[in-house]
Formats: sequence, structure tokens, C-alpha cells
Amino acid sequence: MNNLTTGRPPAYRAVITGHGSFAPEKTLTNDELGKMVDTSDEWIATRTGIKVRHITTDNESTAMLAIEAAKRALAEANLDAEELEIIIVATVTPEMVFPSTASFVQRALGAKKAWVFDLAAACSGFVYGLSIVQQFMESSRYKNALVIGAETLSKIVDWTDRTSCILFGDGAGAFVLERSRDGRKGIIYSTMHSDGDRWEALNCQAYGSRHPASRELEDPKKIYMQIKGREVYQQAIRRIVETINSSLKACDLTIDDISMLISHQMNARIIESASKRLELPNEKVFINIGEYGNTSAASVPIAFDECVRTGRIKRGDIVILVVFGAGLTWGANVLEF
Ligand SMILES: CC(C)(COP(=O)(O)OP(=O)(O)OC[C@H]1O[C@@H](n2cnc3c(N)ncnc32)[C@H](O)[C@@H]1OP(=O)(O)O)[C@@H](O)C(=O)NCCC(=O)NCCS
Repeated sequence: MNNLTTGRPPAYRAVITGHGSFAPEKTLTNDELGKMVDTSDEWIATRTGIKVRHITTDNESTAMLAIEAAKRALAEANLDAEELEIIIVATVTPEMVFPSTASFVQRALGAKKAWVFDLAAACSGFVYGLSIVQQFMESSRYKNALVIGAETLSKIVDWTDRTSCILFGDGAGAFVLERSRDGRKGIIYSTMHSDGDRWEALNCQAYGSRHPASRELEDPKKIYMQIKGREVYQQAIRRIVETINSSLKACDLTIDDISMLISHQMNARIIESASKRLELPNEKVFINIGEYGNTSAASVPIAFDECVRTGRIKRGDIVILVVFGAGLTWGANVLEF
């Protein structure tokens, strides 16, 4: 048996005891997009793997999606929200500038004992959140936590820009984590990285303190997400491969020990290309971008939830979660489910 503990095992681990996801009912197909911008189902599906995405209505918000996903994860964990100690919402499309989206989740769940905050690491936010909770539980400071990835990217997408609007969708996913002494189960290892020098590759510049809502924008497009697709594409493959290889090495695992790779769903071609370089067979790589598009911080927990529900991940499996996104940011968690 491989050494999964990377040194002396901690007394406690953060174990996933519940998971849930939620996407708005309204959908937008590639054919429908083809009526909005100069694109086609064929172009989008071949270049990205996306067929359809879920989109919020004007009456739906990030907190609403987060709350639904959280309720499902709590039900699965059989944990009363009143017992929750920490709520982290990973998002770059928060409910408001402040308070945090997590405050609205806390209120809706009645999680009065918890301390709560948002985490802004774009598509990497959920995995960053898991690594924070891992530290809290290994140090035995907290017993449980709720980590949510929730996004309404449709609200910051330029629906006239065919190079970006085809990529994104809305949704939320959540994990309940509980402290456990149960041997190897739970998050085994996390590694997180950032490169602020490349912030321009992916951004949405208004309305922050540099471009406040109170001042007219020189370029009105700054309210929308801007991406340098080619640069992101290349960086993503490189960083995913690098991060998985270093994680396996740190855990003394080989690619054969992995039951499933759950990657951030940014483009099926990026995931396939990275998996090929890692020599991971197709059946060990989960891709559901076809039905959701890129949901940023929500994509990993949505994919994980679907994977478990369809029987593709079982208790005891070794799973790698890997992410890449704006910042730039990237990272991975290795866990035994
Ligand atoms: C966006 C992405 C799908 C573009 O695919 P690509 O193969 O790199 O395509 P290119 O940008 O080189 O464009 C190729 C051509 O298709 C055109 N094109 C771009 N979007 C199009 C669309 N939606 N429909 C039809 N044609 C399109 C371009 O204008 C270009 O035309 P040209 O050759 O006449 O100039 C790909 O780069 C990608 O997935 N990048 C990462 C996306 C990202 O940043 N995600 C968020 C990170 S987490």
C-alpha cells in the first residue's frame, strides 16, 4: 500500500460527509446562442465540448443557488445547519460587494453558530476552500464546515462577444466536511498556487475600487469578463499536468492509484489533452461540461456530486480535484472518498 499520508499522518482529517449541487432551471443551447452571435453548435461543441448551459433569470442570484446546493449537501450529511461552524462561499459573482454571499447563506440556513466568509480565487476557489478546511480540521480546531462554490457568470458575460459568451454557465455545488479520526479517509493532500503577473489573461475589471460604479467607464466593456483564450488554454494544460504530477509524488502515489480525476470544467479539450499527457485512461476522467459550460468555482463540486450519484466514484476511491483559473490561480486536492 502506498504511503498516502505524506509524512506522519495527522490525528484528524477533513472527510466529505455530504455533497450537493444545484443549477437554475433555464437553459441556453448552442443553437440558441447561434441566434445571438455568429457561432454554431458545431463550432462550440468541437472546440469546447459544451452543448448547453444553465442560466439564471433576473430574479435568481448567486446566494439562491448556493443555498439550494448547501441544503442538499447538509441533507446528505444528515447534519443540522445549526451545528455548522464555518461556511465558505467560493465565488467571483457575489450577491453584493458586501456583506459576503456566505452571510446570506448563513441566514437562510439558520446556521447561527458559524463564522462565514467569501473566497475570491475564481475557478480555483472551491479547491482553495477545501485546503483551508483541511488545515482547520487537521489542527483539530473545528469539527465541521460547509464549503460552497457558487456562480452566476451569465451576469458578467458580454452576450455580444462570441469568443467568451459561449463558454460559461451558472450553478452551485457544496461539500459538508467533518473532522474524523477514521484512518486515511478524507483530504490527504492539497497544493495551491498563484501567479498575479498574469492577471490580465482573465478578468472582470468593473466595479471595484479601480473602476468604481460611481465613475463613468472609459471603456464600457470593462463591466464584462475579458479572456485571452489561447493563453489560458496553454497555461491551463501546463499547470494541470504539473500540479497532478507533483501531488502524486508528494503522496507517493502513481497514476494507477487514482480512481477518478475531477478537473475544473473549462474546456473538454483542455481536460482531455492534460489527461493524455498524464496517461490517464478516459474512464478515470470525468467531464460534464457538455451540460453546464464553465461554472467557475461551482464546476468541481457539481462534477463530483454527479460522479458520486451516477456511481462513478465510490467510498474508498482515491480522487484528485484539480483547478485552474483567473489570478492566475491553480491547485489540487487529493482525497480518499
Ligand atoms: C476560447 C477557446 C474555446 C477558443 O478556441 P480556439 O481554438 O483557441 O480558437 P481561437 O481563439 O484561436 O479562434 C479561432 C477562430 O474561431 C473564431 N471564433 C472564436 N469564437 C468563435 C465562436 N464562438 N464561434 C465561431 N467562431 C469563433 C475566431 O474569431 C477565430 O477566427 P479567425 O481564425 O478567423 O481569426 C479556447 O481558447 C479556450 O477554451 N480557452 C480557454 C477559455 C477560458 O479562458 N476559460 C476560462 C478559464 S477557467
